[in-house]
Amino acid sequence: MTDLASAHVLVLGATGGLGGAIARSLAAAGSRLTLSGRDESRLAALATELGDAVVTTVVADLTRPDGPASAVRAALGAASGPSPRPLTGVVNAAGVVALGPVEELDDDTLDEVLLLDLVAPIRLARAAVGVLPEGGFLVQVSAIVAERAMPGMAAYSAAKAGLTAFDAALATEARRRRIRVLDVRPPHTETGLTTRAIAGQAPRLPQGLTPEAVADRVVRALLDDERDLPSTAFTAAPPTPS
Ligand SMILES: NC(=O)c1ccc[n+]([C@@H]2O[C@H](COP(=O)([O-])OP(=O)(O)OC[C@H]3O[C@@H](n4cnc5c(N)ncnc54)[C@H](OP(=O)(O)O)[C@@H]3O)[C@@H](O)[C@H]2O)c1
Repeated sequence: MTDLASAHVLVLGATGGLGGAIARSLAAAGSRLTLSGRDESRLAALATELGDAVVTTVVADLTRPDGPASAVRAALGAASGPSPRPLTGVVNAAGVVALGPVEELDDDTLDEVLLLDLVAPIRLARAAVGVLPEGGFLVQVSAIVAERAMPGMAAYSAAKAGLTAFDAALATEARRRRIRVLDVRPPHTETGLTTRAIAGQAPRLPQGLTPEAVADRVVRALLDDERDLPSTAFTAAPPTPS
């Protein structure tokens, strides 16, 4: 069982619906956190809310080539401060979605989706895996569309499918060093992500999961040393205690 009470976890996308909920769940489990996002004021507000659980915050644009590595460096630097707690885990919950038919997909939109949802997680893994200790973990939030591509979300589906494929290969490489790579593929969740789409109009979607339910499931998977979190893991009934 992974000991989250002595963990120091870098959470990217902490200013978002899912990242914020995961940060709160990890703090409740006793983890210390380095929080990263782009929006400085929402990052500061979350740090105030979580108080002593927060080691430091780092503003980073993950679409920049050095963005992911700079966040990892900040977490490592904070880990060697006055009350050291080595960096033991990284959770990447940053992402954007683009909506609409492929013929309306412009170059800037395509670049941003691929950079943030596929290239940045690969750069992050490259920066993190070599510095995490044995028993450490990297969580990448992919999406259900990696399993079932959605019309109107073709580039987003392709980026997430690419990320999930990358994670599968990396998980095998990292296992030799006893580092766990957990690819997480949640179904639709009520964070408002589609209302912030960088292109296109949000379709009418059925009621999604709560960010808290998704976050708690991710944290339970970390505690229980699970190695994959497919979309079905979020909808299956929890096991009944015997
Ligand atoms: N909501 C869903 O239905 C759902 C389902 C499956 C998977 N997911 C995935 O879950 C992840 C989180 O999504 P969410 O629903 O929590 O959306 P969200 O509330 O919009 O959060 C998105 C996060 O990504 C960050 N971000 C955006 N552009 C960035 C950039 N260039 N550099 C650094 N950070 C950037 C945002 O930071 P700022 O706000 O500070 O700019 C924010 O923290 C995404 O990867 C998404 O694809 C979501």
